Amino acid sequence: MKKEFKVTPIQNGTVIDHITEGMALKVLKILHITGTGKSIVSVAMNVPSEKCEMKDIVKVEDRELEPRELDKIALIAPNATVSFIRDMEIVKKHRVNLPDMVDGILRCSNPNCISNKSEPVEYKAVVTNRDPLTLKCYYCDREQEDVVGNII
Ligand SMILES: Nc1ncnc2c1ncn2[C@@H]1O[C@H](COP(=O)(O)OP(=O)(O)OP(=O)(O)O)[C@@H](O)[C@H]1O
Ligand SMILES: [Mg+2]
Ligand SMILES: [Zn+2]
Repeated sequence: MKKEFKVTPIQNGTVIDHITEGMALKVLKILHITGTGKSIVSVAMNVPSEKCEMKDIVKVEDRELEPRELDKIALIAPNATVSFIRDMEIVKKHRVNLPDMVDGILRCSNPNCISNKSEPVEYKAVVTNRDPLTLKCYYCDREQEDVVGNII
């Protein structure tokens, strides 16, 4: 008999499944989920999966992610699926998708970049490689260092 990992189901909220193994805590970090509120947050790490060897899963009650948050997840977990739950049922399911150009969800790792100096200029980066992920700043051409640490 197949044993399944059971956690409390959520009434309303978001399930982020198929997260690259080991990245669940980084997903929580970039979504600024600290677990200090009253909502349920379930985290499963290194769960066996049919599609890949292992994956992480995050389930957050009472939160529906915005499109830019899906892009942030795509930066660190490119195969993640995000399901919105309402009244216990999945009402929408997305596969995250990293666009060729990333807007505003990071800050440039070059402190002298114009996007770090002048308020109206928002960081923009071109995705120069997907696996492994590399990004190049649209303004200063600098390759982005420490992607996770620079996600806003
Ligand atoms: N009410 C709920 N509370 C918590 N988790 C839920 C709820 N409903 C669905 N899920 C979870 O949402 C994820 C997606 O559900 P779905 O039924 O699409 O799974 P699946 O058939 O395994 O799909 P996939 O092909 O993406 O693996 C699963 O991890 C499932 O456990
Ligand atoms: Mg599944
Ligand atoms: Zn720059």
